[in-house]
Amino acid sequence: MKNTDDSGKPGRFSVSDCRILEFDKHHSDRKGNLTVIENGETLPFDVKRVYYLYDVPAGEARGSHAHRSLEQLMVAAAGSFSVTLDDGREKKTFFLNRPNQGLYIKPGMWRDLSDFCSGAVCMVLASEVYQEEDYIRDYQEFLEFVNSKETK
Ligand code: TYD
Repeated sequence: MKNTDDSGKPGRFSVSDCRILEFDKHHSDRKGNLTVIENGETLPFDVKRVYYLYDVPAGEARGSHAHRSLEQLMVAAAGSFSVTLDDGREKKTFFLNRPNQGLYIKPGMWRDLSDFCSGAVCMVLASEVYQEEDYIRDYQEFLEFVNSKETK
């Protein structure tokens, strides 16, 4: 599915466009596992930035914002947490607890991260460099933003 409408702007997506991607696990006997995420191979977008959340106190929540155009892959590189996505019409909660899985998040999703276990690491692969203008941090503004778009 295209990410943009005919004017080149991101279209409207639904939570059902977001999904868990499963990556290969290369394991060598008793030496642990290795998972590869590579541009052009395993992801629907090219990665321009990687960041990670860690030392989040158990039970604490993060997120509470949306992105206008950013695509992301969220991975529980260690531990576990939940991600609730909201497209303005519907919400869906995903539980991440495996380093060889990632939640692919389309643009225009309000997200809440919760239920961090102690020691959890949330690694995020992002399609763009950091741009504060891409954030929507007000829920009403988010609803206005998504409602102004056509569903692709
Ligand atoms: P934010 O995305 O709001 O994190 P969360 O929603 O999980 O609390 O970012 C927290 C702070 O980090 C904010 O001041 C912006 C800054 N930041 C950067 O400078 N670069 C980045 O790539 C990111 C993701 C955040």
